[in-house]
Amino acid sequence: MRPSTFVAGLAAVAAPALAQNMSICDKYTTALLKENTGANQLTLLTLLVNTVVIGNYTQPNMNAVPGILAKGDYMGTEVNLLPYFNGGLASSNRGGSMGVSINFLDDGGAVPLTMNKPSNGTSSNQYKLMTHLYQYFGALLGCSATGFPSYQGFGSQAAVHRFMDLSAAEVGYFIEQVALAATSFGVSADDVATVGKALNTIFNVRCAPPTTVIPAQGAQLQSICEDETCPLAPMATCAAYPPTMKPAKVNSTMAGSNSSSSGSMASGTMGGAAATSSKPASYTGAAMKVGAGVAGLLGAAALAL
Ligand code: HEM
Ligand SMILES: *[C@@H]1O[C@H](CO)[C@@H](O)[C@H](O)[C@H]1NC(C)=O
Ligand SMILES: *[C@@H]1O[C@H](CO)[C@@H](O)[C@H](O)[C@H]1NC(C)=O
Ligand SMILES: *[C@@H]1O[C@H](CO)[C@@H](O)[C@H](O)[C@H]1NC(C)=O
Ligand SMILES: *[C@@H]1O[C@H](CO)[C@@H](O)[C@H](O)[C@H]1NC(C)=O
Ligand SMILES: *[C@@H]1O[C@H](CO)[C@@H](O)[C@H](O)[C@H]1NC(C)=O
Repeated sequence: MRPSTFVAGLAAVAAPALAQNMSICDKYTTALLKENTGANQLTLLTLLVNTVVIGNYTQPNMNAVPGILAKGDYMGTEVNLLPYFNGGLASSNRGGSMGVSINFLDDGGAVPLTMNKPSNGTSSNQYKLMTHLYQYFGALLGCSATGFPSYQGFGSQAAVHRFMDLSAAEVGYFIEQVALAATSFGVSADDVATVGKALNTIFNVRCAPPTTVIPAQGAQLQSICEDETCPLAPMATCAAYPPTMKPAKVNSTMAGSNSSSSGSMASGTMGGAAATSSKPASYTGAAMKVGAGVAGLLGAAALAL
């Protein structure tokens, strides 16, 4: 299967005064911060991603953004992503055969984000996640000025998000927050639509074949949407993806409403993983073959965090 590449798809439809081949990152770094330097590109991505996470916190802005940590409604479905970030669910992939609970809001939470920082310090889960998101979304938007950091995280987003078993509404809500945040900074409707379409096509599908997002990382499994509500990707290769199940609740208070989890772990420990039963090995013969490759990716190779 020939891996698809979409990087060129994010080239901006540039404003008249700007070079026709400017990326969305170049275009809005220039528009909002004047000089198109790596440092300014990183500032733009910090503003954007922080707003996606905690909601709008800068003035002036074009519109309100609830942020992904706030409960919301996506086309009639209630969404609550917080438990994936605060350790309420055993949904993080650290290379084992089941998800583990990790608190990604462990270094100041929202407070440093409102100060345009990723975290208070530089050695926390929060620091790693936030800086990786700046780098990754920066790469997606074409930030390439000298000094803009290259992506240091794991290549396969399917692997990263494997144990979250996300629904179309959950991924759709996340992408909607990206769009709202971009719009709040004055990104044009056309550019927002371009980015939204790319995100939906690459990530908000089930079973997509290996796709290159970060050129240096090559083609990787990128489908983040996993459950039965997710649209099947064109040329779907479901055998390449391991079977899924909803993550266990580690703490029902933190995990919020019951709806996001079938395996109730109301009295589980914060260790989470230790208390869950092992994942059924239900590969077919064909899947086993491809699955062995995936297991190498997801298992042996520790997440590059
Ligand atoms: C367009 C969709 C999305 C993209 C492109 C995306 C991208 C990423 C990236 C690049 C990372 C960092 C990986 C690393 O550090 O190696 C990450 C981590 C994470 N994402 Fe997403 N994400 C998306 C949607 C979602 C959604 C809908 C959720 C729902 C809760 C989510 C939850 C998380 C969590 C909890 C982590 C930390 C995982 C860990 O370190 O184990 N993401 N994501
Ligand atoms: C845009 O095109 C010009 C001329 O072809 C080239 O010199 C420049 O490097 C390109 N810039 C980007 C960001 O691709
Ligand atoms: C978010 O944006 C809305 C709309 O511009 C504004 O009314 C609200 O005060 C902003 N919230 C914060 C915390 O800046
Ligand atoms: C993070 O920094 C803020 C502001 O300086 C402070 O109020 C908060 O207690 C710090 N939190 C942690 C976990 O270090
Ligand atoms: C669950 O989380 C809440 C809020 O952080 C905490 O007060 C409570 O003690 C936790 N319960 C258990 C069983 O860990
Ligand atoms: C969670 O489940 C319990 C027992 O099934 C139920 O009584 C409770 O109302 C549920 N809570 C929410 C927030 O759905």
